[in-house]
Amino acid sequence: MHVLGIETSCDETGVALVVGAADGLPRVVADRLHSQVDLHAAYGGVVPELASRDHIRRVLPLLEGALDEANVRSSEIDVVAYTRGPGLAGALLVGAGVACSLAASLGRPAVGVHHLEGHVLSPFLSADPPTFPFVALLVSGGHTQLLHVTGVGRYALLGDTIDDAAGEAFDKSAKLLGLGYPGGPALARLAEFGDPEAYTLPRPLLQRDSLDFSFAGLKTAVRTHAARLDSTCEQARADLAASTQEAIVDVLAKKSMAALAATGYDRLVVAGGVGANTALRERLRRGCDERGARLHFPEPALCTDNGAMIALAAAMRLERGIAVPTRNHAFDVLPRWPLVSA
Ligand code: KG4
Ligand code: ZN
Repeated sequence: MHVLGIETSCDETGVALVVGAADGLPRVVADRLHSQVDLHAAYGGVVPELASRDHIRRVLPLLEGALDEANVRSSEIDVVAYTRGPGLAGALLVGAGVACSLAASLGRPAVGVHHLEGHVLSPFLSADPPTFPFVALLVSGGHTQLLHVTGVGRYALLGDTIDDAAGEAFDKSAKLLGLGYPGGPALARLAEFGDPEAYTLPRPLLQRDSLDFSFAGLKTAVRTHAARLDSTCEQARADLAASTQEAIVDVLAKKSMAALAATGYDRLVVAGGVGANTALRERLRRGCDERGARLHFPEPALCTDNGAMIALAAAMRLERGIAVPTRNHAFDVLPRWPLVSA
């Protein structure tokens, strides 16, 4: 079974093809991506209208490239999966529109996929895939959640952010430090030259018996320190970047370990863009080693948005008979779709 995946929820156009196997995990046979980083950089953040227009420009050439890469004809596509939400409404509509028209022209079903489910399942494409059940730390640009995952489509919320997401904390702090978009990787690069203990920054909710997160106070503290920085002192900027990263990583790691303790699980899966952060990976690796727990990541390139995770999530759902394929090819998008209903 060939499942095509189309991702256009934000600032990356991703098109990938996976081959589903009933007796094993789906395998990626083509994966094409176009990042809009250069397009939005001049504006310091994602401009939704520009994002939609660029998805329109990129999606069909990427599709052709993916089919060439896999040496597969479009008539061999069995299912077309697309990101139905959450994300930017206009950007989502491009992927949904292309996916459903392609499916209609091929006479195949289309499947709308939850973007965050794509992230959570993405470690199944790694060389060391997890097995259920596990705790998932989902850290994307807009979400920071700890999930109790017992199977495909079986997610329970253990903790959530009450204000900013960890990715937002990286991005907003980067902006306060005068770093460009995308802020997370830029702040991580600057942090390499800094002292993570130079500044004492807040770690909200860490003392409480709760798996929820809060990063708004950290941003306020970074703003105060950044305003006092001597603009000629590069070392102080690097120190503040390193201390900020340390505060975010510390909170994410401690709450993840607390979630393992609370569930009694010995497996942690980390997914979403912030999962590409090296300091976070190292800290979680140490924490899991100390507990004798297994740690699973997607390959770094599959931490951020991509089409492969969307095709994968659709294929895993289809194999279990829990996907909802549509054959009438009408579509909608859900910009604020929760992964776990409250
Ligand atoms: O999952 P993702 O690509 O998109 C969403 O679904 O939101 O996550 C994007 C987030 C951004 O906040 C970005 O700054 C952050 O992931 N990010 C990083 C790193 N790479 C991406 N944050 C810290 N360190 C990184 N290396
Ligand atoms: Zn994402």
